[in-house]
Amino acid sequence: MKIITGLIIIVSGAMIGCTVSKNVLFVDQLDLTQMESGWGENHINKSVDGNPLKIAGKTYERGIGTHAVSKFLINTGGTAVSFDALAGVDDENSKPGTVEFKILGDRKVLWSSGIMKQGDAAKSIHVSLKGIKKMAMLVTDGGDNINYDHADWINPRITYSQTAPMVSSVIQKEYYILTPVNNKPRINGASVVGANPNHDFIFRVPVTGKPPLKVSVKGLPSGLLYDSGNRSISGKAPAKGAYEFLVTAENAEGSVSKKITIRTDKGLSLTPPLGWNSWNCWGLSVDQKKVKAAADAMVSSGLADHGWTYINIDDGWEASERTMEGELLANEKFPDMKVLTNYVHSLGLKSGIYSSPGPQTCGGFQGSYQNELSDARTWAKWGIDYVKYDWCSYGQIAIDQSLPELKKPYELMRKMLDQADRDIVYSLCQYGMGKVWEWGAEVGGNLWRTTGDITDSWNSMAGIGFAQSKSSAFAKPGNWNDPDMLVVGQVGWGPSLHPSKLTPDEQYTHISLWALLASPLLIGCDMTQMDAFTLNLLTNDEVLEINQDALGKQAGLISEKDGIQIWMKPLSDGTMAVGVFNIGTADGTESFNWDDQPNAKKVTVTAEELALKTKFKVRDAWRQTDLGEFTGSFETNVPFHGVMLYRIITQ
Ligand code: GLA
Repeated sequence: MKIITGLIIIVSGAMIGCTVSKNVLFVDQLDLTQMESGWGENHINKSVDGNPLKIAGKTYERGIGTHAVSKFLINTGGTAVSFDALAGVDDENSKPGTVEFKILGDRKVLWSSGIMKQGDAAKSIHVSLKGIKKMAMLVTDGGDNINYDHADWINPRITYSQTAPMVSSVIQKEYYILTPVNNKPRINGASVVGANPNHDFIFRVPVTGKPPLKVSVKGLPSGLLYDSGNRSISGKAPAKGAYEFLVTAENAEGSVSKKITIRTDKGLSLTPPLGWNSWNCWGLSVDQKKVKAAADAMVSSGLADHGWTYINIDDGWEASERTMEGELLANEKFPDMKVLTNYVHSLGLKSGIYSSPGPQTCGGFQGSYQNELSDARTWAKWGIDYVKYDWCSYGQIAIDQSLPELKKPYELMRKMLDQADRDIVYSLCQYGMGKVWEWGAEVGGNLWRTTGDITDSWNSMAGIGFAQSKSSAFAKPGNWNDPDMLVVGQVGWGPSLHPSKLTPDEQYTHISLWALLASPLLIGCDMTQMDAFTLNLLTNDEVLEINQDALGKQAGLISEKDGIQIWMKPLSDGTMAVGVFNIGTADGTESFNWDDQPNAKKVTVTAEELALKTKFKVRDAWRQTDLGEFTGSFETNVPFHGVMLYRIITQ
């Protein structure tokens, strides 16, 4: 296990330019990038929406505007005397939210506001911190959900017995790497690839191993050719049927072969799409240079050799005017879409784009309303391989939210894509309305978002991920539930980025859970700035294999007790993937890393839970090591907010 230690030094500016006592440290002087908020961005002296701080009609000058669930851990080192502040729900929202403010110290709740709602006068906090080594500020969702929970801390400050320390807080985060380096040749990715007969076909063969590496491909159907330069197979897909070909990879460490099947009788996305999307990093600031850089980085980082394929442009590429003939155009940030997609294809990768069935996209750009056929043809002409179709302003067009109205725009674009003469993966985005998982396949979607937008907080990621049981039964090859894009690495919704606020353990949970859920995996970070930890998360082939399994089953929750959840995904070779997650309990004290070692929980996984009657072998998927043979049960230690991901093999 390799350990990269990120040392976050938080410098107190308590003495700088302040008229208050030098013994007092205002929390807004600390590095608030480490403060987690359940939605939006934290602001100093402003609400989470950027307005003056206002509670129950009273405006305050100094404080921090945040959003539930909000967390901040401060290393008080045992020398602080007290914490003081006012706290309340900000007035800015038109709908009222409810929250609970808590001050924690060394694993105990020191103060709690009780449930507070919008309009309640700010509550005054004075808490003794004597002897406390670490304190935490927590805003919970008040027991309902985080909607409209805009929360303000007013004048939050820590008083010390002497001058407030210059370095007030040193919080250590261990970005530990579990993915081993594999020098042996390995052929990665899915064992089955879907395409439609006679359409343009492109497939990059994902192979890893110590260079020099020789890759050969045998038995391709006629019409397809392998190019060893970009390791891609391209040409025209064959007539309806199943075609098996053999890939062999050799290097000084050995040789390996794998059969891959091209199916032209089952549609597209026979395993969940693997790729990148611009939204979670660049938001509306996306441009051609950034997309090209992403494509280059997907290859140069090695991600493409692990099966990552799509380079998807989200909202923000569209011009405001169409041509006289009504043809959709890209804006000035994308000088030539055709040239861009050709470039992506030249790397063996695929190109994706975004639109809305409404007149406008969510970002206020041109949508496809009443231009559906023309737009589908334009995308096909550009060489687009994937379309995300986002409801947005279609709300103004739909008569109501009945099922026929919800389905209508998606059925329409399906028909138009069918006329476009190109393999285009169809991604429905309407946030789960009308239980889309029950009819997404019927309207021709290859994937459909089951939730609202994800952010890089535990509450958002876990709130979405662990609520996916509802849709499990509907996932199958060609039709996937989409719990939204990944929030690991440098994210930010553009133009400025920050490291994901998920802890390292939470990031392992995120990737493991999405793999088990057979979710589309769309990287949401700037791939030109990936560190070793992020790359480790995205290049573990045994983890990706769970996601890409050809059986196409989505994991279900098989056990839940004392803050531990076990999820199980049956795999095509008769084995199963099992994730044991430590999601913690509700009082909030567990939400913080009080010790140098993260809180871990001992868990016994029983054969009964796994419905096993015989002996079974257990393999740790992240560490890629066999743990031995067991009967009855096996034990494991699961870090707080972390996961142990296993492959269980029966005799
Ligand atoms: C919605 C979607 C996001 C993103 C934005 C673009 O919010 O859910 O994934 O596509 O629109 O404006």
